[in-house]
Amino acid sequence: MVGGAGETSYASNSKFQEKALLMTKPVLDDAIGGVYKSLHPAKMVVADLGCSSGSNTFVVMSEVLDVVGDLRRSLQERQEPPEIQFFLNDLPGNDFNHVFRCLGEYKRKVEQEKGNLLVPYYVVGVPGSFYGRLFPRRSVHFFHCSGSLNWLSQVPQGLDTERGASLNNTNIYITETSPPEVVKAYQRQFQRDLSEFLRCRYAELSYEGRLVISFGGRKSNCPTYGQMRHLWGLLAEALNALVLEGMIEEDKLVTFNLPRYAPSMEEVKAVIHGDGLFDVEEAQVFEANWDAFDDSDDDSAAFDSDLSGKNVSKYVRAAVQPLISEQFGDAILDELFARYAANVSRHLLQQKTKHSVFVISLKKKNESHLTAG
Ligand SMILES: C[S@@+](CC[C@H](N)C(=O)[O-])C[C@H]1O[C@@H](n2cnc3c(N)ncnc32)[C@H](O)[C@@H]1O
Repeated sequence: MVGGAGETSYASNSKFQEKALLMTKPVLDDAIGGVYKSLHPAKMVVADLGCSSGSNTFVVMSEVLDVVGDLRRSLQERQEPPEIQFFLNDLPGNDFNHVFRCLGEYKRKVEQEKGNLLVPYYVVGVPGSFYGRLFPRRSVHFFHCSGSLNWLSQVPQGLDTERGASLNNTNIYITETSPPEVVKAYQRQFQRDLSEFLRCRYAELSYEGRLVISFGGRKSNCPTYGQMRHLWGLLAEALNALVLEGMIEEDKLVTFNLPRYAPSMEEVKAVIHGDGLFDVEEAQVFEANWDAFDDSDDDSAAFDSDLSGKNVSKYVRAAVQPLISEQFGDAILDELFARYAANVSRHLLQQKTKHSVFVISLKKKNESHLTAG
């Protein structure tokens, strides 16, 4: 993600993710309430994985503080309020400085809003990959992870030909023309990563602990027919145009693939059930227009396709700019994303496309059940 609070930063271009968080809020609140009611922990430990930097970083903290505060009032609890420890995790390259610079203002705001009803809380940053262990055994009561599991731990292995080019040719993600080996490599990488993620969280969660994950999914069971093939296909089209005009080298494009994947719900459930570590409490699918600023339900055309193209291009840039810069250099960025915006706008005029957002609430299975089994 692009750090800071500038025009191209994630902080300034995360409206879509904010909307997705809002859609998943009822599931999130149920899970937080479930943990609190079953454990009543004196010290409650909550970790947000892939927190990024921007206003969304504080959404989970606010939800936990609201839900726990409201439950204490409705249950008329008289004992001391719990103390809540929040861990904000992301990769080491995340702009944690920006997060902690904004934390003071966040704290002032919630103190003003809640006064002495505010549950005491403490915030710590945890840099590291969530595809490995981050916390001691059975030390966390609740995990949240939104918009992050689409990022694979690496570009899938097995995409290279003997001559060093990609089997995926000038595509950068799965498309209709991707060979089956490419599709399988992406699927295998996603399955391995999700399975590892769940294994780590299982070890770190306390008894009765819960985990809510949400991310972009695919409605179609067929991996070559997801909406993502358009989102990334249109970016590949812009990159190919720059190759034709000599602005980037073809070699750079044929060795570039995105470490991202959007699974079907069936694929996700197969991993969860295959590992047998969690019970699925809730699994829902929401849909939202590609352009988060377009709230219209009319599927026939985008409200303003030029504006929508630009809006989509901005949040895609905020997400993938670091990868694009590393492969192709900084000089092409403005031109690339202007062309991408035009491609998206053309696409939305033909077909107003939506993202599918999956939200899944998981409860840790009893450890004795596993050892007995
Ligand atoms: C789209 S942002 C989502 C941020 C925030 N949760 C939200 O909903 O707005 C995805 C975040 O996941 C982080 N991420 C990707 N892979 C990760 C990994 N293996 N471990 C930790 N964070 C990761 C990225 O750095 C990025 O900040």
